[in-house]
Amino acid sequence: AAESAAPGDLDGLRVLVTAGGTREPIDPVRYLGNRSSGRQGVAIAAAAADRGAKVVLLAANIDESVLAEVRDRAGVRVVPVGTTAELEAAANGASSGAEAVIMAAAVADYRVANVADQKLRKEDSPGEAPVLELVENPDVLVGLVQGRREGQVIVGFAAETVAGGVEGEGLDAAAARSELLERGRRKLARKGADLLAVNAVGWNAGFETDDNSLLVLDADGHLACEAHGSKRDVAERLLDAVRDELR
Ligand code: CTP
Ligand code: CA
Repeated sequence: AAESAAPGDLDGLRVLVTAGGTREPIDPVRYLGNRSSGRQGVAIAAAAADRGAKVVLLAANIDESVLAEVRDRAGVRVVPVGTTAELEAAANGASSGAEAVIMAAAVADYRVANVADQKLRKEDSPGEAPVLELVENPDVLVGLVQGRREGQVIVGFAAETVAGGVEGEGLDAAAARSELLERGRRKLARKGADLLAVNAVGWNAGFETDDNSLLVLDADGHLACEAHGSKRDVAERLLDAVRDELR
């Protein structure tokens, strides 16, 4: 593995990383969630710390086996969060003390408006499926961009599904890649981040895997870099782009 591609080049840099996926309660025992394992964000936190950064990792529902990579690592402080509201409060609190913010977490877009304070029971409404009323969550990344401190670099992530996927070769792969970039550019324009890391996900790609592929767009929508390989290797390349952006 690529331990510390560039040791010390992030010395003293304060980095806020969010990782994992937020969950929104339905009732005391159930939630709405997503498939993000947190592996890519944890790899970013580990790589940044190995390069000298002081990292705060906001860990949204990440399995302890994944967090083990950073649990005892010097330079990483892990702060657990559950819901989007918790992530937002923690991110807003920590961002003013960070020169770089990397929003790798998969944030639930909606939360349940009518959270039940008791477990939903079938016997209470036999034969009737419950209806969940959803409300949109605040966009944490947009909030951070709007409150950006001078010189701060803010990185967004975009996991996109594209028809056909981007594996393989030929016309379909080229079309899928350009759709991925186009979606990324539109998202970047909406959010105003300094860098946007775009990756293709699907039923069998992107989640719970060790490898990843990222296309990194700069604020103008140009391809700043491209990274393929282990999540650690991809993390190193992304941090190179952040370092270059900070200059
Ligand atoms: N994000 C956020 N707060 C939200 C939703 C997303 O901070 N409520 C952040 C994510 O952490 C990520 C970036 O925004 O860094 C892009 O997330 P994504 O889900 O791809 O974008 P959305 O604007 O939610 O668009 P989509 O409809 O494609 O989900
Ligand atoms: Ca979303």
